[in-house]
This record gives sequence, structure tokens and C-alpha cells, in this order.
Amino acid sequence: AMTVREMQDEILRIKKEKDICILAHAYQRQDILDVADFVGDSFALSQMAAKAPQSTVLMCGVRFMAETVKILSPQKKVLLSDSNAGCPMAEQMDKDLILQLKEMYPDYKVVAYINTTSELKTVCDVCVTSSSAVKIVKKLDSDKILFIPDCNLGDYVQTQCPDKTFKLVSGGCPTHLRMTVKDVEKAKAQHPDALLLVHPECAPAVTALADYAGSTTGIMSYAKKSDAKEFIIGTENSIVEHLSFDEPDKKFYPLSKDCVCHNMHLTNLATVYNCVCGNAGEEIVLDEEIRLGAKRCIDEMLRLGD
Ligand code: 13P
Ligand code: SF4
Repeated sequence: AMTVREMQDEILRIKKEKDICILAHAYQRQDILDVADFVGDSFALSQMAAKAPQSTVLMCGVRFMAETVKILSPQKKVLLSDSNAGCPMAEQMDKDLILQLKEMYPDYKVVAYINTTSELKTVCDVCVTSSSAVKIVKKLDSDKILFIPDCNLGDYVQTQCPDKTFKLVSGGCPTHLRMTVKDVEKAKAQHPDALLLVHPECAPAVTALADYAGSTTGIMSYAKKSDAKEFIIGTENSIVEHLSFDEPDKKFYPLSKDCVCHNMHLTNLATVYNCVCGNAGEEIVLDEEIRLGAKRCIDEMLRLGD
């Protein structure tokens, strides 16, 4: 059997030989981040998706992320690292529900979290990510916002955009919703000097107690820049690992040991190796009409988010 190091060296060699770009979401394990061409949050990955010069892109993440790459770069071969890696939130609402809501609220702009299917995006006005949502909603030429599918992120955006009127529909990330106010009380009692940094996919009552709320990249850069020495991290627990690795002089505690996204972790280093060898991964194929409909939404996000 190969060691981790040998496998990483092989991945680096093969991806160069086959002109493959590896994109990794920040929730992936450190050994995958080491071999990636680019690591980031959903917004940064979308920007990279449009720019990557290679002819093949391997997305180590979940399905909507690989679809975003394909939407922006139809000429490229796009692989999702594991065909079962979906985001449960992305599947929570279907197109018909959105069409009904649009009929009920015709003067509202439909803002879709990027964690949605391509088909759903075809009936929305603009996409947002956790890091771009507030900025984009502020810039949007409408004061009436129908925010789907994450009502927790929607609630957070609403608190930051008090001049706009929001309609939220109940949907959200099952992983982030595992963290409760009780977890916050317990963690703060154990680590009274620590700052609480959370992802806005958390329940509003949890986010309200945070010292900072932001995307995975936002949380990491906040912790790195801060003068504080201890942090309670309210997002997927791989971020606790990455921060502990990058900042050995600071202490990082998970808000809950249960905040693990099993879909993200279907991908491991061996999966990446098998993908670059051509023995694993699913090639993303999109219907051209759906691709163009979804692209309008993502292009609008990239334009307003810049
Ligand atoms: P960001 O990487 O944009 O913070 O999103 C987190 C997430 O849950 C992705 O599915
Ligand atoms: Fe989806 Fe939540 Fe996993 Fe992110 S952490 S991919 S939102 S289930």
C-alpha cells in the first residue's frame, strides 16, 4: 500500500500529466487540501471555476459545487469526486414550490443560496453564497427579497439589511442545525475567554450569540487576524482541524462534536487518487437549457459580488 505522501505525489504527477485542476472546499481534510490547486469557500470556488485554465476540473466537495463549475465552463470535463456527495439542503425545495411562491409574491426578487440544484436556479433571480449574501442583497435593485432555501442564512442577511423586506421559507443545513444555544452555553462555560465564530447556516439564536458570523474562509481569516488566543468554532469541524494546523499558538474548540458533514467527507485522499487515475468520480452532464437558465443566476452573483 502507498503512504499518504506517496499517494499525494502520485496525484500531483498525474494531474499535471492529464491537465486536471483540483478544487477543494474548505471542509475537505488537510491531506486533500495539500494536493489541491485551489481551496476556498463557495464564492471563491465559483470564481475559480470560471478561471481554471485546465481542460478537466475535479471538484472535491458536493454536487452543487461541481454543477457550478460545469455551468460556467461547459467546454471542460467536470468531475464530482463522489457521486453520492450531495448537499441535503440543495434538494429541499423543488421548482414548482418556487413558481408558486413567485405567484404569491410577484414583486419579490428570488435570491437563491448557491446550495441549490441547477434546475432550481433556473427560476431564481440571483445566487448568493454565505460570504457574498449581505453584499449582494444590499446591491440588489429591489427592497423585497424572497430568500431560499436556507431560512437561517436568510434571517442573518435580514438582520444585516434592516431596510429591506424579507420572505423566508423553512429550509436549512441539517449539519449546522445540530448546534444549539445549550452547546454555546456549555462551550462558553468551559472556555470563558474564547471568541465564538459561527457560520450563518446556524440557527439564528446561535448566530445571535456569536462574536463573528461568516463563511468558512471568513471564519478562518478572522481567527488568523484576531489577537485573541482561543476560539469556539461553530461550523463543520474540519475547520477546527485546519485552524489548529495553521495556527499552532492558538486554541480552537468545536462548538459541537456533531457538526460533521458526512457528504463532504465521502471524499478522501484515495478517492482523489482514483479520480485522477480515471477510476472514480462522476462526470457532470447538464441539459443545455437548464445550464443557461442557472448560469444567468450565477453570472449575476459574480457581477454583483465583485
Ligand atoms: P461556504 O464555504 O461558502 O462558507 O459554505 C459552507 C457550506 O456549508 C458549503 O456547503
Ligand atoms: Fe450542505 Fe450543510 Fe454539508 Fe454545507 S455543511 S454541504 S450546507 S449539508
